[in-house]
Formats: sequence, C-alpha cells, structure tokens
Amino acid sequence: MFAPEVNRIMVTGALGQIGTDLVDELRQRYGNENVLATDIRQLSGHSGVTNGPFELLSVLDIDSMDKIVKDYDIRKIFHLGAMLSAVGEKKPDLCRKINIGGVISVLETAKSNNLKVYAPSSIAVFGPEAPKHAPQNTPLNPTTVYGETKVIGENLINDYWTKYNVDARGLRYPGLISWKSPAGGGTTDYAVEIFQAALNHGHYDCFVKPETRLPMMYMDDAIRATLELMDSPIESIGKSRPGYNVSGLSFTAQELVDAIKDKVDGFTCNFFPDIRQKYADSWPDSIDDSFAKEDWSWKAKYDLNRIVDSMLDNLSD
Ligand code: SER
Repeated sequence: MFAPEVNRIMVTGALGQIGTDLVDELRQRYGNENVLATDIRQLSGHSGVTNGPFELLSVLDIDSMDKIVKDYDIRKIFHLGAMLSAVGEKKPDLCRKINIGGVISVLETAKSNNLKVYAPSSIAVFGPEAPKHAPQNTPLNPTTVYGETKVIGENLINDYWTKYNVDARGLRYPGLISWKSPAGGGTTDYAVEIFQAALNHGHYDCFVKPETRLPMMYMDDAIRATLELMDSPIESIGKSRPGYNVSGLSFTAQELVDAIKDKVDGFTCNFFPDIRQKYADSWPDSIDDSFAKEDWSWKAKYDLNRIVDSMLDNLSD
C-alpha cells in the first residue's frame, strides 16, 4: 500500500483551513498514499484531500490515534485539529478540552511510538501587556481562552522535549489568508471572508475597526514555514522550538480594504465591530521573528499586493 522508504505522515484537522493546504503540499512532495488525512468531520466529495487515505479521528481519542499510527506505520504527525479564538471564547470548556487534550494525545502517541510532531501555536499567546511589536521572549499573559490553551501547548511541547526527548516543534502563526478552504471560528477570519464577499457581492461588513492592525501571513508562506521548520536539522532548533515567532506582513483592516478596492471596481466595506474586536486588540500589531531567521533562515515572500492578486485570481477561477 505504501512506499516503504518514505516516512509516512498523519495530519489531524485535515479538513480545516490549514490542513487542506498542508495535505495538498505534503501529498505533492511525498505521494498521496504516504499522507494520511484525519479529521473529526467525515470526508465528503467537496472537502478536498479526497486523493489519498482518510480516517475519522477525534484528537481526544488517544487509543484510536495510537492504533491508526501503528496501522499506517506513521513517523510524523502534523497536529492541526483545534478550536480557534472566536468559537473558543463562546465555548471555553470545550476549547480547553480540545486544544490542550489534543496536544496531550499527540505528544503521548509520539512518546510511545517515537514520532516527530508539529503542533502550532499562535500570536494569541501574547496578551495586551506584551509589546505591540511582539518579541520572541516576553511574558505570555493572554486574555483569551484560546491564547491560554496555546501557551499551555507550548509548555507541553517543551516538557516532552526536555523530559522524554520527543521532537515536537511549533510556529506562532499569525492570521492566515487562504482560498482553498474557508477560515472558521477565528478573529482573523475577516481577512479571508472579505475576498469572497468582494467578488460575490462587491461589499463586506467587517467585524473589526478599520484601524485594527494584526500580523498576517499568506497560506503559501505559512505552509513553507511549517515544512522548513520541520525539515531543519535538530541542531538548528533552539529554545523557541515550541513556538517560533514568524512574521509575514502586518496591515490594518482599512489598508486591506484599500488594496482590494484597487483591484475590484466599486468594492465597498462598512465596519461593525463585535466582540472579536476585543480579542484582536489584545494581540500584537506585528511580530519580531529574528529567532526564526537566525535558526532556520525564515523569510516570508508575500506582501499585501501579491496576496490580494493571488486571492482574487484563485477565487475567480
Ligand atoms: N487566526 C487565529 C484566530 O483568529 C489566531 O491564531 O483565532
């Protein structure tokens, strides 16, 4: 069934915004049959990732995870199954359960099967007291439950590395902009939804204020950063292993609107801030990623114009 020389990979949350793109890229690199997509949602013809193996899996079901890892002879897990900030604040208990429990399942499975792990962190680890240009090392006092679960996830990765030698790594993703699969339940979703709205309706009602500035990244850069981190030799991975700051770009909601207006005639946007404004305000404006640059030569490629062109092109196809 599998090519024996390849390290087989499992992805959790494979039907989500990042998972869809990551599974595509991994299957192109390593062959469809060597990348197992898993999700708590059933695969349907519309979900993407239909070109290779799929298993239904709850990230809280550690026994099934262990069995699947053994059955498919998995060597590496990319753990993307999680709940994002906006939904997480509405369901804090479930958010803690899924986000912290999921990381524990994956790390425990990695420990007993000797696997390498990727488990992402987020800019949400920073709270309102952190500098607005967020350094790698600063006290992490998030005010969202989602942020709290990401800080705990980073601590768990550190623990499993120092105590059990589990080689797990993570990036603090900024808001991610992509077209293959919709964003879902996050605060930075406006930067994705706006493109579809511009093309379909010529109008968007934005849920954060025009002056809201957040760190963002195009999905192509995010996938490349993920794979560059995971492919880096172990000696180059420093103390930031559980959550490297990675910067793409940083723009206000108004700057995004203006960039889209330049390409979509007559596009209009109104601003009706809701509760998600509070979460956005607690996060940094931009990210200092000097450690990622130094340790594994990280450099983003997409600026705002390139992102807008690529999003509009791909969504119009
Ligand atoms: N994009 C995430 C969110 O908005 C932050 O990591 O919840």
